[in-house]
Amino acid sequence: MSLNHFYKKDIVSINDFSRDDLNRIFKYTDNFKLLDHSIKGELGKGRTLGYLFYEPSTRTRMSFESAMASLGGSSIGIVDSKISSIEKGESLADTIRIMDMYSDVIVLRHPFDGSSKFAAELAENPIINAGSGSEEHPTQAMLDLYTIFKEKGNIDGLVIGIVGDLKYGRTVYSLLYGLAKYDVNVYLISPPSLAIRKESVYEIEKNLKLKEYNYLYDDVLKKLDILYVTRIQKERFPDIQEYEKVKGTYKVDSSVLEKSKIDISIMHPLPRVDEIDYRIDETKNAIYFKQARYGKELRATLLTLILNENPFNEE
Ligand code: NCD
Repeated sequence: MSLNHFYKKDIVSINDFSRDDLNRIFKYTDNFKLLDHSIKGELGKGRTLGYLFYEPSTRTRMSFESAMASLGGSSIGIVDSKISSIEKGESLADTIRIMDMYSDVIVLRHPFDGSSKFAAELAENPIINAGSGSEEHPTQAMLDLYTIFKEKGNIDGLVIGIVGDLKYGRTVYSLLYGLAKYDVNVYLISPPSLAIRKESVYEIEKNLKLKEYNYLYDDVLKKLDILYVTRIQKERFPDIQEYEKVKGTYKVDSSVLEKSKIDISIMHPLPRVDEIDYRIDETKNAIYFKQARYGKELRATLLTLILNENPFNEE
């Protein structure tokens, strides 16, 4: 029996996963979807997922919890630091140590860069980074890449635009690190004050061609197979007046679709605020809700792989 590569593995950064690893996760997700409910329900039986969310979440927490339930496991956790001992001044380290005793895998979202790495060094059980400051959100990027793969049949060869808050959006960084493992062209579109942090993409720029624009120009739009839209991360602005200056500066609406390829796919990690017109939801180009659905399936697969030595009975 071979030990699966992801058994007991932390998911701190997508950089720790090779292209081969990612492609394997996509294949496993396809396999997982075909399993009977009763088989799925054995994969996490008697196991507990512990979640610690020091920042708001809808999809990430619910998809992990729902994924764990589908595996026959249960979830415990903290979503509101005000009603836990965090409010009494308990440190992140102590909170992690305790959760490590009560669960088999920990899902952590925290406002500090480096928080998941810190937790992984401390915990015996695997840590899944569900958002570390404006640094990374690796499982979001995995599900984003899986969505692209399912929608387009391939990732290599695609032209991908990423629009929005490229300075603070952690999903953008994990996605770029993931895309750097494929052969793609990437256009980055943002107001100048929300441009990508150069020091965070320095390494990947050796493999990935990044072209930067301050506006969604028609010439750029025409080329795109995917447009990945992000929310301005209001909560990360040190000065709210700076947020006011950029708020509402870009919006994907029907005029954008008219100028795009007929089969352009519009993605968004969600939540959306005002950056995608609701009328886009009805078009076949909008795949952001499908993306959220894939999130549960991919996360259930990741949990399966982390919790079981050889869940897919490989020789
Ligand atoms: C994102 C996050 O928390 O980084 N949300 C998510 O997990 N889908 C995106 C965001 O908050 O804008």
